[in-house]
Amino acid sequence: MVLGYLKAILRALESILACPALLASRSSRRSSREGLIQKRSLQDLEREISRMLVDHLTTSNLLMMSAQMQRQYQDKLQSSPHCMLPSYNHTLPSGNESGTYLALDVGGSTFRVALVSLRGRHQGVDGMKIIRMTSHTIDEDVRSLQGTNFFDWMASRIKATLTEGPDVDTPHHTLPIGLSWSFPIEQTSIRGGMIQNMGKGFNCANGILGQDLGDLIEAACGRSGLDVRIDAIVNDSSATLLSRAYLDPCTTMSLILGTGMNAAVHMPVSQIGLEKFGSRDASWHAQADMVITNTELSMFGGSVLPKTRFDDQLNRSHVLPDFQPLEYMTTGRYLGEIIRLIILEAIETAGLFGGNIPASITMPYTLDTTFLAILESDTTPHMTRASLYLEKTHAFNTVPSFEELCFLKAMAECVSIRAAAYLATSIHALWSIGRVTEENDVANTTTMDKTTIACDGSVINKYPGFRELCQSYIAKMISEKQHKGQIIPEIHLEPAHEAAILGAAVAVAVCVS
Ligand code: BGC
Repeated sequence: MVLGYLKAILRALESILACPALLASRSSRRSSREGLIQKRSLQDLEREISRMLVDHLTTSNLLMMSAQMQRQYQDKLQSSPHCMLPSYNHTLPSGNESGTYLALDVGGSTFRVALVSLRGRHQGVDGMKIIRMTSHTIDEDVRSLQGTNFFDWMASRIKATLTEGPDVDTPHHTLPIGLSWSFPIEQTSIRGGMIQNMGKGFNCANGILGQDLGDLIEAACGRSGLDVRIDAIVNDSSATLLSRAYLDPCTTMSLILGTGMNAAVHMPVSQIGLEKFGSRDASWHAQADMVITNTELSMFGGSVLPKTRFDDQLNRSHVLPDFQPLEYMTTGRYLGEIIRLIILEAIETAGLFGGNIPASITMPYTLDTTFLAILESDTTPHMTRASLYLEKTHAFNTVPSFEELCFLKAMAECVSIRAAAYLATSIHALWSIGRVTEENDVANTTTMDKTTIACDGSVINKYPGFRELCQSYIAKMISEKQHKGQIIPEIHLEPAHEAAILGAAVAVAVCVS
């Protein structure tokens, strides 16, 4: 009889374990949504997620991660067709280049066409001027265009800009053209390069991988009746570096953090494996000691930077899982998506918004970084600014309570703090490998103590407090590594405005001068 009794208890336990909702129902209350079980309090969830996102961001942990990332960089600098890509630009601009150029900038969410005038570094910021610019939104429809269809779309926008705007002195078709391309590209000359996989939700590379980018654009323009020749192609990270280096010769690195992320470095050729230079001419090697290298930084950090279940979820449902681990945790395209996944879990398990999912966020990528920025910057006692914004942009059954707004704000803070810390780690690692080489190669180390990094992108330049936070993480990492009495090297993150479009013009100016 005792045995029968024990078996009955075991059966009951088994059925409870097989159905966790039964377990939860003993200690939880029903939310307003029919059938939803609230399993934990919002504060409890907030504590757990904050711990996961920020507790490990101590200076010593960041330094450990930086050391691991340095090994990843060194490895890819020797052989990888996808990242640490040396360009053909070996010299930085002298600052004396001048003329009027047509610059194209294919970014993650806009395509811009501009006439740029360069008048020399001696003119200060007036040395670079955008005479005329048109900006065309790249929405989901454009992102989904495949192969040549995307280039035909570009050509129609270039044509509209050239034919609809006021005349310029130089005949349009003879203007030298520079292109800034915000995707990886394996350069085969200063004006050509092979299309590689494209992130940021673009389908353009489908079916044309390995084809020449310059040829594709010229052919599309030809179909539109435009006779153009692309003279220089640079990744947007290199464009950013070039644009600031035109005005300030101390700039040797760049950082982009907007829809996507990346960094470029002017680094010694000797640090890069020979096979990475492809079959370029011996005359190029004879002239080049240094080379602007597109790191494709977004592709690093995979096995180094700790992830949460939300990152795993995002990665699993991404069209290119594991392609750009650092990008998925730091950029404008993904910060909002991480928060959206947190919100969905909070709705389901902690009764956020009364257990109701606002219709506006049911689909992936429907929360943008503005949402986080507004929450974080709202210092009003009742978070009225954030509340008004939420009401305007999302349909709620009931207005979010103050407690709910505080939860959202805390989550936004944690996600952006982690992004700043991971970004700082990857920059510190990049700066450190350059330093090791300089220390080996150069006897006079005084020139190494200040590095200016040109920064472009909405997150690094506009997100409240982001650049400062990133800068302070970098400073802490550097000073922790210094010995007593040593001069502490400085890294300055400096905003570079309109850098991609101006840099495209500088790139072409450097090669035609
Ligand atoms: C691309 C890079 C680009 C960066 C910033 C990344 O997703 O792979 O080529 O420089 O975004 O736009």
